[in-house]
Amino acid sequence: MSMKQLTGLNAIITGASRGLGVYIAKALAEKGVNLVLIARSAKALVEVQEEILSYDVKVVFIPADLTDAGNFKTLVEEAELKLGPTDILINNAGIELTAPYEDFPEEIIRSTINLNLLAPMLLTRAVLPGMLERGRGHIVNISSLAGKAGFPFETPYSASKGGLITFSHTLRAELINQPVGVSVICPGFVGEAGMYADKEHISGPAPKLMTPTTPEKVAKAVVRAIQYDIAELIVNPLPMRPLAGLKELVPGITPYLHKMIGTFDFARNRAEKVKSEK
Ligand SMILES: NC(=O)c1ccc[n+]([C@@H]2O[C@H](COP(=O)([O-])OP(=O)(O)OC[C@H]3O[C@@H](n4cnc5c(N)ncnc54)[C@H](OP(=O)(O)O)[C@@H]3O)[C@@H](O)[C@H]2O)c1
Repeated sequence: MSMKQLTGLNAIITGASRGLGVYIAKALAEKGVNLVLIARSAKALVEVQEEILSYDVKVVFIPADLTDAGNFKTLVEEAELKLGPTDILINNAGIELTAPYEDFPEEIIRSTINLNLLAPMLLTRAVLPGMLERGRGHIVNISSLAGKAGFPFETPYSASKGGLITFSHTLRAELINQPVGVSVICPGFVGEAGMYADKEHISGPAPKLMTPTTPEKVAKAVVRAIQYDIAELIVNPLPMRPLAGLKELVPGITPYLHKMIGTFDFARNRAEKVKSEK
């Protein structure tokens, strides 16, 4: 089901305290969507709330750590008490850490999967019965190109993002006869704001095929995915779908693609710099 007219709908957005989440929140507010902002930092959420109030929509926030195995149903109940029934859920909060796989501490692997994959799955489970009952809803999961072909030296992140892509397509197939849409957005590197831009000083320039996109383009893709009920959007300056398709046809080619594109050297240098900064 597409929801072309977004004015007056209510959305929950995670990871709304900084980075891409703020741009997505603003793009939705511009369309008249009321928002519940979720992240850990209450101080940052107050600032984002103040900025977004100028769009003449209702904005509330809930500080919460989504890596906690806490009760996601209670979180959604709190959000709905503050704003009303949830029409849109944007699972955007995420963490990305770079290291050779054998160096990752177990707790980092667990927290990456908890925040990037388990939290979206459990939040979706908490909003879905209400959406089905009301006959309206859309879930948007923010994955990454790392979820398509993996990103060397970011194995837990890539696994979580690949899982999120499969979760999105599986649920979309399951809900084919229902009035609830599911979309997944796969940005490449994003410049100007977000986790890549914040670490650009240690990353160096991105490989040509992975030239950074903008946070505005990611936010626009989210709005378009909801309005036109689009299954999956890749947000990257050059087309990456053919390469992702090639990987599906010839899985053994993936390591050579990473060498060819330059993502292997890029990520290995990044992992070395992260290690030397510790
Ligand atoms: N930036 C890119 O280049 C890029 C590329 C592809 C995909 N993505 C995806 O886009 C999404 C947003 O990334 P970003 O670049 O905006 O990252 P970011 O700037 O690091 O922001 C991450 C957001 O997640 C929140 N967060 C982190 N840990 C949390 C936790 N335990 N509980 C609740 N909230 C938490 C942060 O707020 P607090 O710290 O206040 O909790 C913040 O609002 C992520 O899913 C990321 O994987 C980003």
